[in-house]
Amino acid sequence: MSLFRSSIDGLVPYEPGKPVEAVQRELGLEHVVKLASNEGPFPPFPAALEAMERAAPELNRYPDGGAWTLRSALAERHGIAFEEVIVGAGADGIIDLLAQATLDPGDDVVCGWPSFPSYVLTAAKLGAEARRVPLGDHTYALDGLLEAIGPRTKLVYVCHPNNPTGTANGRDELLAFLDRLPEHVLCVLDQAYFEYIDDPDYLDGLDLFREGRRVAVLRTFSKIYGLAGLRVGWGVAPADVATATSKVRRAFDVAAAAQAAALASLDGAEEISRRRRLNATGRDRLAEILSSHGLEPVGPSRGNFLFVDVGGGRELFDRLQREGVIVRPLDSFGAPEAIRITVGTPEENEVFAVALGHVLSGVS
Ligand SMILES: Cc1ncc(COP(=O)(O)O)c(C=O)c1O
Repeated sequence: MSLFRSSIDGLVPYEPGKPVEAVQRELGLEHVVKLASNEGPFPPFPAALEAMERAAPELNRYPDGGAWTLRSALAERHGIAFEEVIVGAGADGIIDLLAQATLDPGDDVVCGWPSFPSYVLTAAKLGAEARRVPLGDHTYALDGLLEAIGPRTKLVYVCHPNNPTGTANGRDELLAFLDRLPEHVLCVLDQAYFEYIDDPDYLDGLDLFREGRRVAVLRTFSKIYGLAGLRVGWGVAPADVATATSKVRRAFDVAAAAQAAALASLDGAEEISRRRRLNATGRDRLAEILSSHGLEPVGPSRGNFLFVDVGGGRELFDRLQREGVIVRPLDSFGAPEAIRITVGTPEENEVFAVALGHVLSGVS
């Protein structure tokens, strides 16, 4: 008998990208720019930095296990009942909670593919199956998701916009999909990149929720708020679902400094707009850089990243890394032919331009 659960046999340990410092040292590079993990390129808001400093002397204490203050603030701000708000260790932590709260071995989840790997991994760990529906034209094929739903489907994920392709389904399409969703299935609308969106046809999941739709909506402080390193995200879900996630969460899963920084970030509307505009400009610039080399990114991308088919993602990743730019090869996302590039600061985007020029012209 094996010590280990059979459901984890086929899983591969998560291979995090090497730290910037290690790449720098190994390759003898003076500067390394990381455009690999869809983090926001800007630091936490000043109010968040102050809140962390204020929290520091009390870090001998465990955090507020229910994230009461942050949950209340989010509930009030968005007009959602307190019991319907979930706070977790990143949106990723909430995906994990939703899987743990709903999936028995033999159940299944449905998602598009290539898409965010956590949908698949959290299910697989529990002995559930992830039914991966190929994207249509790099976009979630919502009819295909409906067709893949079976009697044991518990969750259907819509990554909106989709990581790694950046595309988002339009409002009418999404509403028609939700209208046809069987009642035994919970739609998880992952809006991790919500604050970057400037498309009038984009459906705000919280509006859907407030209208009484039975959906879970995910958001995060990791992207535009610049708090990826702290691991804090949030979401809304029907009260029975939110309560079930509370049953499976670890007692103190969101660190005190993370809660404090997230709370202090909520009033940053002006800075968020500024970052959204900079992101849109940076995304256009990256697209222009790629196009100038005959590479056409998938579009329109609504997030802070671009997906581009380069023939062999791993090879271009290696060559760019030697030039001091780390991008994301997409084998683990189901797209070995492509890379994903995160929008950086204006300066970082220009470093990418130079590096790509060197790599593709063979000059280094
Ligand atoms: C679609 C999607 N969902 C969730 C997450 C997880 O974000 P967090 O840092 O909040 O765990 C990411 C992060 O890249 C993402 O792309």
